[in-house]
Formats: sequence, structure tokens, C-alpha cells
Amino acid sequence: MNDDAALGAVVDRVAELLHLHIGLRCESALYSRLRRAVRDEAAAHGLDVEGYPAALLPGSPVMQSLVNRITVQETAFFRHPEQFDILARDILPTLRPPVRVWSAACSNGQEPYSLAMLLDESGVDGSVIATDLSTSAVQRTAEARYEPRELTGLSSQRIARYMIRSGSRWEVERAIRDRVTVFRHNLLDPIPDRVKSCQLVFCRNVLIYFSPHHAKVFLDRLADAMPRKLWLFLSSTETIWQVTNRYEAIRIDEGFVHRTREAHVPEARSPARPPVTARTAQGRRQSTVRKVTARAPAHEAPPVPPAPPDHAEQAALAARVGQEALSAGDCGSAVVEFRKWAYLTPDDVMAHVHLGLALEAAGERSSARRAYSVAQRVLLTVDPAHVEGAMEGFAVDELARFLHGKNQECAP
Ligand SMILES: C[S@@+](CC[C@H](N)C(=O)[O-])C[C@H]1O[C@@H](n2cnc3c(N)ncnc32)[C@H](O)[C@@H]1O
Repeated sequence: MNDDAALGAVVDRVAELLHLHIGLRCESALYSRLRRAVRDEAAAHGLDVEGYPAALLPGSPVMQSLVNRITVQETAFFRHPEQFDILARDILPTLRPPVRVWSAACSNGQEPYSLAMLLDESGVDGSVIATDLSTSAVQRTAEARYEPRELTGLSSQRIARYMIRSGSRWEVERAIRDRVTVFRHNLLDPIPDRVKSCQLVFCRNVLIYFSPHHAKVFLDRLADAMPRKLWLFLSSTETIWQVTNRYEAIRIDEGFVHRTREAHVPEARSPARPPVTARTAQGRRQSTVRKVTARAPAHEAPPVPPAPPDHAEQAALAARVGQEALSAGDCGSAVVEFRKWAYLTPDDVMAHVHLGLALEAAGERSSARRAYSVAQRVLLTVDPAHVEGAMEGFAVDELARFLHGKNQECAP
């Protein structure tokens, strides 16, 4: 075996171990970073590259050091600001204080401190538990000190109110820091007792790195562990309906928030419920709230079982009617039919692609972008050999490129 092939075999093994212990799905972009990381990390620990995987024991300093290097800490204060608006306006007023929030995968702390600021601004008695797998992220969160460029997302009013200059950096003020507790936690481990009193979980921009199997393990465990009904915030491009049916997606204005169901729902496809309009607890403003019933497979891992014949037939009908509507220039009806198609067969990439195209034709670019993102995610979970014939002549790579382009085109 030449050096390159030997390094490739080591990187494959390391990718397997990362997948097993931290749920990380190793895609091609990560793979090239991992090659560099393996060489550098082996050297840093005085190991030869071939012997390096054997040192990657769970909980070991060698594993932690690789995790710190390979995880992505991208974040910002008040990232996805519309979700903070929904939280302040529609959800916080309905919760009994003291409100407890878990920022699961908190990165360098901007998310938990944004939550603490929001609690303060809303006059709510509450606190935030911030956890992350990366010990360097946990340390940065505990320090609560940021470079000026890291203050992105904070208005000048919030900077004036909550940040204190400390040399060339800015420090979060004491009262906000006191609301936040920080510790290391791997989302694949059992849910820590300390977070079980939380009514809200922010778990944004982390499940995208997980395989569907690991995302399901975490989400189901979370639903089982929490004694009360839970509000779950994912990022706006993350969907979980292909993965678990333990949550319902609730549409509030342009965003989705997830809620644990009352009881475990058996693995049947439930009929869609009509939209409902809800008032906030304080009746401050009416928001459009729509429950979207998700369906998902019961078993631990993909592949997703085929739809029962009645759903398959209904999906085929919705696809045909939608295409006819689109050819007739009736984008609104096409959107309705393609939504039905995507709902009935959520693991059918083409359903989401068509929905995206119809939404785009209807001028709803941000919704179209969401549909393309779902299609991208579904595409990652399917077996190319199995689906290629079903993708209307598209090869998987072509479709991936097409979706990437569409996603960019529809970006705000
Ligand atoms: C892109 S950041 C997201 C930060 C923040 N939630 C946000 O949306 O801005 C992803 C974070 O997930 C963490 N992470 C990755 N795998 C994890 C795991 N298995 N358990 C806990 N945290 C994990 C990474 O260390 C990183 O800080």
C-alpha cells in the first residue's frame, strides 16, 4: 500500500470512529479536512499515523483534541433572529417561570447569552444551560469574552446594555452570565439530569452534521427524558419529520417550532390536520400557527420503509395533478398538490424538488429554498443505486449540483 492509500485507510477508520462516538456524518468536504487533521493530530500526540486510530478511545484526550479541531463553531448572537422573535412573542408568555432553556450545542456561547438577554428583556425569571461537545467551545462560553467581529447580531443598544469593554475584547455583563451554566456534553450520551427541568431546547445547526440514525437516537431520547412537554427549536433549514414522529412541527408565521407529542405515536401515517389560528397567551398579537403532522419510520435506522399502497397511490395522483396545474400556469394549486405529495412520501426527493420549483414559480422564494434544502437532506440519506431511476433521469450528482444552485439562487 502506498502512503496515500495508507493515509486514506486511516482516515476511513477515523471517520467511522467519529460517526460512532459523536454522530458525525463524514461528507466529502469534511473528509479532506479530516486528512489534514489526522496527520496534524497524530504528530501533536507523538503517534505515527497508522497507530493513531487505536488511540481514539471515547473520552480520551486524543479523541477530545480531534473533536475540538474537527467540529464547526460557526455561530452568532441572535442567529436566525425570527426564532428569537417567536420565542419572545409567542412562547415565553405561555411558560410558567422560572423558565429553563437548554442550549444544546452552544458553540462559543453566543446562542445561550442571546437567550439570557432575551429572558432579561422580557422580564422573565429564568436561566439557560449551555452544553457542547467541544471543550474549547465550552471554555469560550464560560469565559464569555468576544472579539469585536464576534458581536455580529447584537444591536448597538444590546451592546451598550449587556457588553463591557475588556481590553480589545468585549465581555458579557455579570447578570447575564449568572443566568448561564456551562458544561461539556455529547448529544449522543444520555440526557443529563440537570437539563430535565427545561421547557425549551435550542438545538440548532448541529443535527445537520449527524446521520439520520444518530439524530433519531438523540431526538427520541430527548422526548422520553423530559418530564414536561417541550418546545424544540431547530434551525430553519433543519427538518426532522423523516427521522422521528415524536414531535409535531408547529408553524408560527414564517417559522417552524417543534413540540413533543402528548404520548408516543405509533408508526402510522396520520392524516394532516387543518390549520388552526392561536392567540398568544397575552393576546398581544395573532400569529398564524399551523400544526404540521409529521410521519416517520419507527425503526432505529434508515432505510425508510415504503409507503403503504394507498399513500403511494395518493402521492402519485398528487404529483400528476400538481404537474398538470403547473403546466396550466396555476402555481397555487401546484404548490398544494406538491405539498401533499411531499407529505405522503417525504423520502421522495423529487417531491421536494417539484415543490421547490412550484413555490419559486409562485414567487415564494424563501419557502422554495426550504423545500430545496429538504430535498438536499433527503438526497444525502438515499442510496444512489436505489433512487437514480426514480429521479426522472437525474444522476445523484447532477441533482445535488442543481439543488445547490437553486438554494443559492433563492438565498435572501
Ligand atoms: C455550527 S455550531 C451551532 C451553534 C449554535 N447552536 C448555533 O446555531 O449558532 C455546532 C456545534 O455543535 C457541536 N457539536 C457537534 N457534535 C456534537 C455532539 N455530538 N454533541 C454536542 N455538541 C456537538 C459543535 O462542537 C459546535 O459547537
